[in-house]
Amino acid sequence: MKFFVDSADIDAISELADIGLVDGVTTNPSIIAKSGRDFKEVVKEICGLTQGHVSAEVVATQADDMIREGRTLRTIADNVCVKLPLTLDGLKACKTLSSEGTPTNVTLCFSPNQALLAAKVGATYISPFIGRLDDITLDGMELIQDIREIYDNYGYETEVLAASIRSVNHVKDCALVGADVITAPPAVIKNLANHPLTDKGLAAFLKDWEGTGQSI
Ligand code: E4P
Repeated sequence: MKFFVDSADIDAISELADIGLVDGVTTNPSIIAKSGRDFKEVVKEICGLTQGHVSAEVVATQADDMIREGRTLRTIADNVCVKLPLTLDGLKACKTLSSEGTPTNVTLCFSPNQALLAAKVGATYISPFIGRLDDITLDGMELIQDIREIYDNYGYETEVLAASIRSVNHVKDCALVGADVITAPPAVIKNLANHPLTDKGLAAFLKDWEGTGQSI
């Protein structure tokens, strides 16, 4: 399973990349706004931190304008992936950009049928939002499972990029149902390494080692 970082925080992405945990990065207009930085500048910097895809989202709502914005975003770096909303215009733009060889990420997916459409227009990734469905008491993980089954039924190559991940349990459940990629905030990815028994066991090992008076 690939790990993407859902962030525009350069330090946080670099820290995870140094450990070897970054296969790509996703951003959205809210994440860019939060960074307070110039969109193209920050995307270019992130693209230098990973060889994987870095999703940069269009903000136009008409297909022709989305295509124009997508082509502009692609000039930032070779690993830019153009992110498009799951609307009819977004699907149309996805079809055109994908046929030009541009990697595409269709975002704001909340139903299996939406995911089916994204696969039909050749999206590189579909981004179903788990947390936002859970927020309204629906089952985000069921959506990931349904999309996995539908894509497998027909051999679609579009990768299931589980998004809106809020917890380590979301990551585990995505791995169990076969999501191709998860994108999560840096804190969630770091938290995957935590276990109280690991901390307790390590403290005991180090104490016992200290008692031997040896060094390595
Ligand atoms: C994915 O690409 C989105 O940027 C992101 O996962 C949305 O997460 P949120 O619902 O926590 O804002």
